[in-house]
Amino acid sequence: MAKKLFIETLGCAMNVRDSEHMIAELNRIERYDLTQDESEADLIIINTCSVREKPVNKLFSEIGQFVKHKKKSAKIGVCGCTASHLGEEIFKRAPDVSFVLGARNVSKITQAVNSEKFLDVNINYDESAYAFGEFRQNPYKAYINISIGCDKKCAFCIVPHTRGEEISVPHELILKEAEKAAKSGAKEIFLLGQNVNNYGRRLSGGKKEEFNFSQLLTQISKIDDVERIRFTSPHPLHMDDEFLEVFSSNPKICKSMHMPLQSGSTAILKAMKRGYTKEWFLERAKRLRAFAPQTSISTDIIVAFPGESERDFMDTMDVMEEVRFEQIFSFKYSARPLTAAAQMTNTLDDKTASARLKMLQERHAAILDEMTPSYADKIFEVYFEELRDNGFAAGRTTQNNTVCVKGGKELLGKIKSVKITQPQRLILYGQVI
Ligand code: SAH
Ligand code: F3S
Repeated sequence: MAKKLFIETLGCAMNVRDSEHMIAELNRIERYDLTQDESEADLIIINTCSVREKPVNKLFSEIGQFVKHKKKSAKIGVCGCTASHLGEEIFKRAPDVSFVLGARNVSKITQAVNSEKFLDVNINYDESAYAFGEFRQNPYKAYINISIGCDKKCAFCIVPHTRGEEISVPHELILKEAEKAAKSGAKEIFLLGQNVNNYGRRLSGGKKEEFNFSQLLTQISKIDDVERIRFTSPHPLHMDDEFLEVFSSNPKICKSMHMPLQSGSTAILKAMKRGYTKEWFLERAKRLRAFAPQTSISTDIIVAFPGESERDFMDTMDVMEEVRFEQIFSFKYSARPLTAAAQMTNTLDDKTASARLKMLQERHAAILDEMTPSYADKIFEVYFEELRDNGFAAGRTTQNNTVCVKGGKELLGKIKSVKITQPQRLILYGQVI
């Protein structure tokens, strides 16, 4: 009989893909069916995120809940970035956990499950050429890792300490995986890395990859069955003209760009070690829109980084005003161990941080309210990828807007022209024409 697996995935798209890898790996040896109910699971995996402090604190109370409700024989494993970061400490604080696998060690899941106790959090482990099995949570969209780790040392970020040094996956493997995924029905290829447009910097062992990111995009677009290409996250610093040109001129590349700003103040960007200025960011965003005017731009913003003055924060508000991001992921700064910013003493109080976050989010909501009505009566090409409640099917425009229409599974995996009848802030409702 098949075993049952409960897997909880926190954090970024990279973690979603790592969970898919683990599910595929486990199924190579014996069948595991997914369950949403931890009390019937034979195996419970928490794939964790450590970018901010809150979810890390929640981990141990959550493990406590799982221990209370799980089958007696069920094993619990902690994987991902918090596993990398806390390592053996997890066993000490939660003795019922039987394995701890770092974000760069998920290929060892079978070995971990079959051991009494298992720990591997080696951040130098090379998973870049590992032949993972196939499993996709959404068959219409294929996440593909193109690099692992990150070489930037942004002062606030724990990721380089949990995912290790940046290495690129050889392009032959990426192309093979993209071809296979597209043939099996995933018209959309979603490339993943902490710093995707730095692709090709180095392969495992220090060898040089032949393609840079722009060339990789071009090669993938030549695969017949691939109709859409997305990627996350690029770094504003590496958005050179070659990249912007390939991005704008290739019709298979979706016209939605994530440009993680973090702060609009040049002084704070310097303290964050982001490597660009406010002016550079604004110039690149302008250039991007000059190359591809229909592009929607999303961003990540951190408020209340140590030393952020009212004026620094206003610089962030300024950039938001000027770029008019379609989507913002905004966070209060959270001090993370092992990072340079954790040593800084000029921290801000939580009241100021909350007030700034609120102001930023409210202004952004207002900007969206100004933009939303303009979608009415427009026609978009929508790739349908999931079903929603009440008889709706959901898909995305190339600009990454979510569109819902009345319809069912006959729409899934198809690209249709949709006329927007009722635009709302987060969902554009429309009709297939
Ligand atoms: N490589 C990715 C970043 C991964 S972390 C990129 O460059 O986009 C995802 C986001 O979490 C970051 O962009 C940042 O906005 C936020 N973040 C990272 N560390 C943080 C911290 N210490 N406090 C608050 N937000 C943080
Ligand atoms: Fe983190 Fe900066 Fe890399 S945000 S993942 S160190 S690009």
